[in-house]
Amino acid sequence: MRLSPTADALADARERTLALVAPLSDADVEAQHSEIMSPLVWDLAHIAAYEELWLVHRYAGRPLSRPELSAMYDAFETPRAVRGDLPLLDRAQALAYLDDVRERVPIEDSFLHDLVVRHEDQHQETMLQAIELARVSPPPAVPRADRPAAPGGHTGLEPVPVPAGPCEIGAPEGRFAYDNERPRHRAELPAFRIGRTPITNATFLHFVEGGGYERRTWWSDEAWAWKEEYDITHPEGWAHGPTGWRRWTIDGWAPLHPDEPVVHVSWFEADALARAHGARLPTEFEWEKAATWHQEAGPGNLDQVLLGPAPVGAYPEAAAGCGALGMLGDVWEWTSSPFRGYPGFVAHPYREYSEVFFGDDHRVLRGGSWATRSRVASPTFRNWDLPQRRQIFSGVRLAWDA
Ligand SMILES: [Fe+2]
Repeated sequence: MRLSPTADALADARERTLALVAPLSDADVEAQHSEIMSPLVWDLAHIAAYEELWLVHRYAGRPLSRPELSAMYDAFETPRAVRGDLPLLDRAQALAYLDDVRERVPIEDSFLHDLVVRHEDQHQETMLQAIELARVSPPPAVPRADRPAAPGGHTGLEPVPVPAGPCEIGAPEGRFAYDNERPRHRAELPAFRIGRTPITNATFLHFVEGGGYERRTWWSDEAWAWKEEYDITHPEGWAHGPTGWRRWTIDGWAPLHPDEPVVHVSWFEADALARAHGARLPTEFEWEKAATWHQEAGPGNLDQVLLGPAPVGAYPEAAAGCGALGMLGDVWEWTSSPFRGYPGFVAHPYREYSEVFFGDDHRVLRGGSWATRSRVASPTFRNWDLPQRRQIFSGVRLAWDA
């Protein structure tokens, strides 16, 4: 018997979603731990509501089973900050809603089925952000891979050259892509250099201990105001104690690993670090050209198999054509680019996926993180967030003019 790819993908996504919350107490699943993150139980019922809306109602033309829940689980009608104050379904009710919707989904292959699988995948990453930010334990019950060895010799400050010339930007036809990755179009870029790897913890620590957070000249006005208001002196999750620097990981406190990429830095901090090194953040087109030049980058640390970053440079077989390492996976990489539609952009299938975020407020991140499912990560995928946000698994790759 041949199972459909859709059935396999839906089942795989669901198995992972449930594994993320399985070890946690009801209280930890139901509490809102941060006003910028949803209660985990909201994510669960929202995944069910989204699946019912798109596959049962819009695709199959059948009525919603729980229309009274629509507004509460609509990401736009109900902003994150208020989700903890609502009469949400409890954990058992949310899990029952997930099961109930899944039983009524028509198993066919379509764009909407791909969209719904990726929606659940992306919520897994959001849930992992909430779990790491809230510092709840035990860690998710997912299959773990062995940590790769640190190859050493990388700091994030070693550039690789990318020559001037045209490149294709955006997703090709013939495979799933979000509306904001299309239309594919040609861009002409001058020569530039890009970091062979993301900036390591060791390099970022040097910035911290060298007064990076006190040197006014390295911070934009907006960044400096944010840093002063919130008394930011190091990346999110770092702490200094008698045994040195440590970092909160999904498995608890751990010594700061010098060879891992820095993670949980805001765009403001990434930009300041770049200025301190006479560098800048890459534009998203530079990032995409570097990642796709001559070849599609191979897989790196994706799919939640480590539940944390690997040492930089640990996947040499996944190098991009220009020689850059680790472009896919490990940490999202901030770019200098605001999030805008490509020329000829058409919203599909709804404006609220990406179009309502276009403008100068959000900055684009590229590459995916260790928490991104491999189905979602690609060299053309665009993520976006506000420049002060640090809950995301975000790091820094530098660029320089040639
Ligand atoms: Fe969603």
